[in-house]
Amino acid sequence: MQVILYMATTVNGYIAKENNETPWSDEEWQSFSKFVKEIKNIVIGRNTYEIMKKDDEFSKIGNPFTVVVSREDFAHNSNFAIAKSPKEALKILKEKSFAKALIAGGGMLNSSFMKEKLIDEIYLDVEPLVFGKGIKLFSENDFDAKLELIETKSLSKNTIQLHYKVLK
Ligand SMILES: NC(=O)c1ccc[n+]([C@@H]2O[C@H](COP(=O)([O-])OP(=O)(O)OC[C@H]3O[C@@H](n4cnc5c(N)ncnc54)[C@H](OP(=O)(O)O)[C@@H]3O)[C@@H](O)[C@H]2O)c1
Repeated sequence: MQVILYMATTVNGYIAKENNETPWSDEEWQSFSKFVKEIKNIVIGRNTYEIMKKDDEFSKIGNPFTVVVSREDFAHNSNFAIAKSPKEALKILKEKSFAKALIAGGGMLNSSFMKEKLIDEIYLDVEPLVFGKGIKLFSENDFDAKLELIETKSLSKNTIQLHYKVLK
């Protein structure tokens, strides 16, 4: 299974403000939505799930099958599954015959997947923004990785998309 991380980030590596605000451009949002609609699934951390549910964002991205990674069980409908770990999230998607998995944040979940060396490719939409503090692209954890740049693309005059392969 091909495992792809897709994130919007500020120039200095933040994926949200401290208050969870994510002021991304329309072009970024459209690019992400298109990607989700192609892959038809997302894997997200519990915090991201709660924010997306509150803001009713699942319908805006085509109601993908959503795996929420959490140590807790909670009520959810049939378009959602709960996984206790990143590996279990991928197992659930494999059992559903998905060829690709889209890892969609937030920072703690991204870090968990990187630490377990489960990410094959990374798409980063770099917005022309700097936050002094906020949620980091990867929360602090004990890992490092080398990447190979596959492609760069302009999403607009101001927003660039970087596409990397994770070297293993
Ligand atoms: N810029 C972007 O593209 C983008 C995308 C997505 C999210 N975001 C932003 O990111 C922020 C949320 O990120 P976050 O770092 O606070 O939280 P998060 O990664 O969304 O969720 C963290 C939670 O996920 C669960 N989790 C993570 N790793 C786990 C593991 N290995 N095993 C079991 N459970 C695990 C835990 O849930 P339990 O505590 O329930 O066990 C943990 O508390 C929000 O502000 C959101 O808006 C930005």
